[in-house]
Amino acid sequence: MSYRKLFIASNALMLAAFVWAFAKDFAAPWRPYQKKYYEMSADVLEKKAAAEKDAKKAADLRAEAKKMRRSPMEIKQIIAGDLGRFDRCVTCHVGMDEYTNPSLVNDFKENPYKSHPKVDAALVKAHPFTKFGCTSCHSGQGLATTVEGAHGWVKHWEKPMLKGASIQGSCVKCHGNFETLKGAEIAAQGKKVFNKHGCQGCHAINGVGGVISVDLGDIADKPFERIAGYNFKKVRIDGKELPNEHHDSHWNIQNWILAHLVNDPAAVTPNDPFAHYNAEPIPPSGMPDYTKEISRADADAVVAYLSGMTKEEVIPYRYHVPGPAPRQTALSGKDVYAKYGCQGCHGLDAKQGRRRFNAAGEGQKEYDEKMPEAEQFEQMNLGIEPTLPNLVGTYTHEELVKKIANGVPATEAKKWSPKGPMPMVYMPAWKDKISKSELDALATWLKSIAKKDDSGF
Ligand code: HEC
Ligand code: HEC
Ligand code: HEC
Ligand code: HEC
Ligand code: HEC
Repeated sequence: MSYRKLFIASNALMLAAFVWAFAKDFAAPWRPYQKKYYEMSADVLEKKAAAEKDAKKAADLRAEAKKMRRSPMEIKQIIAGDLGRFDRCVTCHVGMDEYTNPSLVNDFKENPYKSHPKVDAALVKAHPFTKFGCTSCHSGQGLATTVEGAHGWVKHWEKPMLKGASIQGSCVKCHGNFETLKGAEIAAQGKKVFNKHGCQGCHAINGVGGVISVDLGDIADKPFERIAGYNFKKVRIDGKELPNEHHDSHWNIQNWILAHLVNDPAAVTPNDPFAHYNAEPIPPSGMPDYTKEISRADADAVVAYLSGMTKEEVIPYRYHVPGPAPRQTALSGKDVYAKYGCQGCHGLDAKQGRRRFNAAGEGQKEYDEKMPEAEQFEQMNLGIEPTLPNLVGTYTHEELVKKIANGVPATEAKKWSPKGPMPMVYMPAWKDKISKSELDALATWLKSIAKKDDSGF
């Protein structure tokens, strides 16, 4: 091909690219929203003009309406440089754009036209959009200009927009002591539920808490590919399978956490108790079934709280603002039990040990290798962690302190099925976590709730 022909051909290609880009831009999904916003705003101004008695003021309003109607269509972007955010949300949510709508208030009722809630409160006053952008609180994909793309409900976008209560996870990222912060009540409730039900007995958060399972201090950063392999079709949320629209994006970290609380986690992580696919049997999730203990609203609160657990997101030091410190008080033995999460394994107020798969428990049949697998599974599922009031009567105070301080190694567990998996959950050693005076208070309380019959059961 001659250079001349190449030149003509490349020009034609360039023109085609221009036309395509122009057409694509014209069909851009954000345009109809922005156009409608200007038209609705112009209508409001014209209505005001019609009601205005002063001719000069009416003319001004009409001129303003005309200008509004002719506003250029453009992508609007907030650059929140400190937080590394480039948020184009206001391209559609125009009522939240300080340049188009300086008062940030309007009377529209629907998204994306309406103004932001609580404009007069700390929520907006203390976090001006020009400095914080939108995604620092909402998550989502700041640069995207389609509805699904921006809201992050697309495959491979790892930080989907936080829905409903979960938005309060954002407060947790920046505000230490958020428990006392106005507007973070749901996240605060989540933390309370977390500690009340003993999650910290097995999970640490930033190093504080148990070592049975993962540290949840960065759970919000867990990559989707690490959960994609699980069969979420077995998971039910509000009794329903997760919807499969927007690709698989419903299988996101919020629903992953929720699934652990509104399902028996053994349905989420069934593993391989009979070694069908692995060399060694692997027990189902060692996490307790909380479906009867934690309400749906409290589960949502926990999801909100844990949604703020990120290490990936870099937030400058000056953006970390602790709320007022909570008051410290001396703890009773019962409080010590709750503080360290003993209830995660031994049950609320030590009333009932929780499930410990394939441990020797109460009411189990004798192991018989000829039992069908389904029945064996049932028997293994009856394994429990000790119900403490039944046992602590046989200990002296000192023995009890020592037992709690040293724990019981996993290898000492008594299995129900010798061929089944090792029980996953064991009694941790607490000596480096609980002070001597707290241990004493704890042992005194446990002795006080011991069953009076000292036979052991
Ligand atoms: C292309 C236009 C568009 C962009 C860009 C956009 N939104 Fe929206 N947004 C909408 C529309 C339309 C709705 C209402 C329908 C819906 O909820 O899907 C909405 C609804 C919302 C809601 C309410 C959701 C609910 O469940 O009630 C929030 C919050 C929101 N957007 C935040 C954002 C944030 C944050 C961004 C930027 C990361 C953003 N939007 C970018 C169009 C957009
Ligand atoms: C400081 C954190 C924060 C920032 C920054 C922020 N929001 Fe919000 N936003 C919230 C909270 C919290 C709510 C829920 C308030 C309520 O309903 O009480 C909310 C509510 C909303 C809603 C209404 C949702 C509904 O139920 O209809 C939309 C839409 C929205 N925000 C969009 C945005 C956009 C766009 C930006 C950026 C211009 C932004 N937000 C910036 C915290 C924030
Ligand atoms: C990116 C970090 C960041 C996020 C996310 C964030 N805040 Fe803030 N917040 C701040 C900073 C910084 C200030 C201090 C502003 C100032 O003093 O100028 C502040 C101030 C406040 C104040 C006023 C504090 C006071 O003592 O008067 C309240 C209330 C507040 N935030 C609540 C919230 C809530 C509720 C959320 C979640 C919806 C939230 N914040 C999310 C950084 C953040
Ligand atoms: C007896 C120990 C135990 C207790 C108590 C416990 N968990 Fe777990 N948890 C586990 C184990 C083991 C896993 C890993 C297997 C699985 O995913 O189910 C796990 C997994 C998780 C995961 C998924 C972690 C990841 O990286 O994917 C979340 C989220 C979680 N737990 C939250 C909680 C919450 C919230 C509570 C309290 C309401 C709690 N856990 C109480 C043992 C426990
Ligand atoms: C991660 C789960 C877990 C947590 C958290 C936990 N325990 Fe245990 N605990 C166990 C298991 C399992 C056993 C039985 C160990 C064995 O014999 O194999 C046990 C045994 C005990 C025993 C001995 C009972 C007996 O068999 O005579 C005492 C006492 C005890 N735990 C007290 C506590 C106290 C107090 C706490 C809180 C500081 C606590 N445990 C936290 C799992 C746990």
